[in-house]
Amino acid sequence: TKLYVPLDSFAVACGADQIAEEFARLNADRGLSLEIVRNGSRGMAWLEPMIEVETPDGRIAYGPIEPGEADALVDAGILSGAGHPRRIGKVEEHPFFARQTRHTFKRCGIIDPLSLDDYRAHGGLKGLERAIGIGAEAIVAEVTQSGLRGRGGAGFPTGIKWKTVAEAKGARKYIVANADEGDSGTFADRMIMEGDPFCLIEGMAIAGVATGATKGYIYLRSEYPVAIDVMREAISRAHEAGVLGSSVLGSSNVFDIEVRVGAGAYVCGEETSLLDSLEGKRGQVRFKPPLPALQGLFGMPTVINNVISLASTPEILAAGAEGYKELGMGRSRGTIPIQLGGNVKHGGMFEAPFGMTLGEIVNEVAGGTASGRPVRAVQVGGPLGAYFPVSLFDTPFDYEAFAAKDGLIGHAGIVVFDDTVDMLAQARFAFEFCAIESCGKCTPCRIGAVRGYETMKKIIDGDKPAENLALIEDLCNTMKFGSLCALGGFTPYPVMSAIRHFPEDFHGEPMRVA
Ligand code: NAI
Ligand code: SF4
Repeated sequence: TKLYVPLDSFAVACGADQIAEEFARLNADRGLSLEIVRNGSRGMAWLEPMIEVETPDGRIAYGPIEPGEADALVDAGILSGAGHPRRIGKVEEHPFFARQTRHTFKRCGIIDPLSLDDYRAHGGLKGLERAIGIGAEAIVAEVTQSGLRGRGGAGFPTGIKWKTVAEAKGARKYIVANADEGDSGTFADRMIMEGDPFCLIEGMAIAGVATGATKGYIYLRSEYPVAIDVMREAISRAHEAGVLGSSVLGSSNVFDIEVRVGAGAYVCGEETSLLDSLEGKRGQVRFKPPLPALQGLFGMPTVINNVISLASTPEILAAGAEGYKELGMGRSRGTIPIQLGGNVKHGGMFEAPFGMTLGEIVNEVAGGTASGRPVRAVQVGGPLGAYFPVSLFDTPFDYEAFAAKDGLIGHAGIVVFDDTVDMLAQARFAFEFCAIESCGKCTPCRIGAVRGYETMKKIIDGDKPAENLALIEDLCNTMKFGSLCALGGFTPYPVMSAIRHFPEDFHGEPMRVA
């Protein structure tokens, strides 16, 4: 009997490693013949660790499971899919899952992440095979045609970025996967690396064939130990199988990948400081131009893409651009892995075409707050994203629609707060975060964040609140338009949205901030 016990960090954090060991021990103790597969997560984080048993009726899930329960679960008959208070049934039929359109995450949680055979059996490598067949120009055209835009947050068209690198002259070219997923409430990059690492490898190899790059780096944050291990092992297996190396899938293309581990600076998720860090320097933002596409890693033409952008391309190549392009709304085409966190009943990853409203996502998909109290604020797009009130819940999940409301979807992380949130404290936190994480290269951010934090403190203490709020607004304008990168440039978003949408928290009396 096959038994799936996730290796995903969601599950491991709740004891999945012990659970896997316990079931393995039962093989010896009770003469069972369980084949334990460490799969990725299906994305229903509130049900992790969620195990699945392969039965004649399909895969039956149970969760959340705790360490110490293996014996009792076997006694209860779960190995034949029997009833149990925590029996979930087939994951595909669960409302949270059934409502999704799984494109990039189609294999995540289903396959054994480290089995290339399993990967192939579920459609893997078809995109790379086709890419090699059609050649560089046609690949770039296909990716452009799909409408895919950068999933790191800026939404720049991936095909155009690849075209710039393909046409650039350089002795060497590089593909860099930005896996420094630092935004609060985001974990999609981690999930795909842990649950379907060959998909990222395939996407990077496709980008290599498309642009003439022969070397890839995955810049992976040190806080993701499981992803680091899984990616390294997958790369080594891809080498052994001839997917990577001096003859990619038997072709004349050369492509290698290396994992490099970051040291924990948020700003190293910004592409140019990431490149400096990758070169062994202190991670500090570079001036643009030159664009990394023309002079990136070691001064060479470089594709630097978010993990999800790269991992979306194998399926686009395999199935053709049209199917992808049909999904979504406006200029936001295809699907986006929405990550639900904070005070929500159903936290996890939900892949859907662009266009669902924020209200549908928070109230229906995430099921409202875990505390049962009313939702008050939702921060979309990480610590530099705007806070949206419930009155903006009709905003569709789309790059342009969010920008029109002075917000951003960023890397698509959504953090929900109930009515106990203090928005003045949140606004102060935005400055504090920026002050701690600033790389120090430009004045509006380096000095501005500290002054902003101090001024917020005065407002909290009731010291000339109206005057100080005006100062904050002025400072935010300077930071927004004068900062060199998004860290200083976007800190005004959480601050100004908190002031604009929740003015009652900034009324000028001493506040209840801890
Ligand atoms: P950007 O708009 O300057 O650039 C976007 C991308 O397009 C970059 O890779 C840039 O090099 C490339 N590009 C621009 N023009 C090009 C051209 N003509 N040819 C080829 N490539 C070109 O935005 P930036 O500074 O890279 O990112 C800002 C965004 O990052 C924000 O919108 C925010 O949402 C997001 N963000 C994401 C975080 C995360 O953890 N994922 C954290 C903080 C911010
Ligand atoms: Fe560095 Fe902040 Fe300036 Fe970005 S905005 S370059 S993080 S000092």
